[in-house]
Amino acid sequence: MAAIRGLFYGAAIATRHLNDPAFVAALLQECGMIVSEWEAQWAALEPVRGKPDYTALDRLVEFAASNGLLFRGHSGIWYKRVPDWFGAINDRAEAERLMLEHVQAKFSRYRGRVQSWDVLNEAVDLRSGRPDGLRREVLLDKFGPGYIDLLFHAARAADPQALLCYNDYGVEYDTPWHTGRREAILALLRGCRSRGVPVDVFGIQAHLRIGARFNADIWARWLDEVAGLGIKLMITEIDVTDAAAPGDIAERDRQVAAEYERFLAPTLKSPAIIGMLAWGLSDRYSWIVRGTEPYHKRPDGLPPRPLPLDADLKRKPAWQAMADAFGGLPSR
Ligand code: G3I
Repeated sequence: MAAIRGLFYGAAIATRHLNDPAFVAALLQECGMIVSEWEAQWAALEPVRGKPDYTALDRLVEFAASNGLLFRGHSGIWYKRVPDWFGAINDRAEAERLMLEHVQAKFSRYRGRVQSWDVLNEAVDLRSGRPDGLRREVLLDKFGPGYIDLLFHAARAADPQALLCYNDYGVEYDTPWHTGRREAILALLRGCRSRGVPVDVFGIQAHLRIGARFNADIWARWLDEVAGLGIKLMITEIDVTDAAAPGDIAERDRQVAAEYERFLAPTLKSPAIIGMLAWGLSDRYSWIVRGTEPYHKRPDGLPPRPLPLDADLKRKPAWQAMADAFGGLPSR
């Protein structure tokens, strides 16, 4: 459905999911793209300094290539997944060399085989109190805000073909927190463009929640502002936390589908949108079902149902909401 509209649709998977043949069959039926759930993170690739192991990530890239799927890399650098040993390096020049060598090695290893990379993930956190809203974390502490420019230029040099993406969360809802984050992220993107930093795409994680306030007009206007910078848009990690929905599965699935629908209707209409990935395909494998965050847990203790396919790989109303959202678009 997405492809007919000139868009791509895909999902995050982990290497161990490839050992599940029924899941792989469903993935090949539903998706045209995969993104590595965690295997491309620096701390996952090089927990021991100087001993990087690309086996798991190679397997995902190979799987995509041998099944005609597009591959997306996540992520180049994420403050949460920088190796511990890197944090202990005090010499700035050495730290910068090591960070750029990692990006160069990772991006050039898969040059020409990656549709897009999240070069940088989640660099904005308003709690820092900084005027630019940048998160106080290991990279900012070591290098100052210039690390952003360093990363994107290094990424472009290492893989000139891949679309380079800045990826973040907490922008879609009509709340003071999301409003502040939209302003900070727009300023970050505008600054990058004005300095000639090669940011091609803004990645909207879209970890949605039932019960949050959403204003389609405010959202569409912000998407237009990002598009006005000449930056493309991608939905990169969509799923729905259903903790606020009733336990009844039919009603809960209806509410989850409605949350997808109300977000996708204005978002997919943006002329700058190029595609969508969900943070998983089936409730069988989901960070929400794993209860990673406290707010994922349902008060009734029932398993969440965040994704388009249920744990038995059956299509849910959420799947139909996505298909209808794509179906309602004009062909490109
Ligand atoms: O599967 C291995 C297991 O074999 C091993 O024993 C264990 C101990 O190391 O690790 C297990 O892998 C863990 C994996 O999740 C599977 O559960 C990794 O350590 C752990 O780092 C990984 O966490 C991922 C997390 O990002 C950090 O990379 C989550 O899967 C993934 O869903 C989550 O995704 C993030 C996005 O990158 C950014 N946006 C938010 C999103 C959710 O937090």
